Amino acid sequence: MLPNKKGLEIIRTYMKIYNGSNEDFIKEHLVKELIENNVLVETEDETYTLKSENEEEMMHSKVGALKEAVYKFVKPSNIENLGNPRVLDLCSGLCYNAISALHYNKNSKIDMVEICEEVLFLTLFLDIPFKEHEIIKDKVREYFLNKIGIKYKSKYDNINIYVEDARKFIVNCNKKYDIVFHDAFSPKRDPTLYTYDFLREIYKRLNDNGVIISYSSSIPFRSALVSCGFIISERESIGRKRGITLGYKNPNFKPNRINKIDERVIALSINAIPYRDETLNLTKEEIIKNRNIRKEKLREKLIKVGKYISTKQIKKGNIPEDILKIQEENLNSSEIIIKMRREFFKDIYDEIFSIY
Ligand SMILES: C[S@@+](CC[C@H](N)C(=O)[O-])C[C@H]1O[C@@H](n2cnc3c(N)ncnc32)[C@H](O)[C@@H]1O
Repeated sequence: MLPNKKGLEIIRTYMKIYNGSNEDFIKEHLVKELIENNVLVETEDETYTLKSENEEEMMHSKVGALKEAVYKFVKPSNIENLGNPRVLDLCSGLCYNAISALHYNKNSKIDMVEICEEVLFLTLFLDIPFKEHEIIKDKVREYFLNKIGIKYKSKYDNINIYVEDARKFIVNCNKKYDIVFHDAFSPKRDPTLYTYDFLREIYKRLNDNGVIISYSSSIPFRSALVSCGFIISERESIGRKRGITLGYKNPNFKPNRINKIDERVIALSINAIPYRDETLNLTKEEIIKNRNIRKEKLREKLIKVGKYISTKQIKKGNIPEDILKIQEENLNSSEIIIKMRREFFKDIYDEIFSIY
């Protein structure tokens, strides 16, 4: 899913006249036009966000675009306490996450990946109160000036910008990261970057103590992370009831557990069946349709072998006592989920999870 079509159209008209020396002119007109067309919207911390293709979803929540970057991504990543963190900023958009990462750790080395160059262009004309915005703007400027044939070399070698599909980037990437910011639109509307197959590629490119962070608490997403080998964890979020998700690679790490209801649902419900994209090039419609087919197949299989429990009953804790008791053990959430699955499905475990 992309940012709002009307918004992109407006930005494109200004991209066409951009020459590096008319930024003040563009700033005055572009921002005004986007606001007048109701596609650029002020959030509660006075920073701006763009509407998405689907009018109901914004690129950021209304509590604040910058605030969200700080409290949903950067602070939970513990970047402040790392030496020279290597950061993969997926879905860079208006660049709030990258700017905030630099603000909290100036030694960060950041690879930014964004499919839509128009949103990157827009950051040149926004007022974002962290001074590190100037660094990111300088890199964005380098990208757009080089594109129109004007030679310009930014002095900030610690930032790279890749304008491409994150799926393509990840398969061609041979670097390792300490932190991955995963900031795609919500999986219900676009699961492209929430599939087991994409997340597995991220897992391979994380350092042993690395972490992936997402604002999403989606069940199939968390379930996919468990299947990839991540230790899943959650933290309170600003502006929404459900927490953000963190996935750690180090199997010896024992982070906060996710809530117990989600643990049970991920372990036993057919709603936890992950999105798949084996070739990493399916459309969002294909990914959703294929998952629905596998989900139905799994439901039929579980009913047939007498192992189907509805999500409503699982949430209430109406599952066998010995399986429920596993949640009292001193394990991390991923270990709990895998143990509940193994002990509940027993000898049909492999068959069930081959449908996953
Ligand atoms: C929720 S916004 C991200 C906000 C951003 N992190 C920021 O700090 O402003 C989602 C972004 O993902 C981008 N996107 C969507 N699909 C993508 C893909 N397959 N690869 C890379 N970026 C993608 C969209 O263009 C949009 O800018």
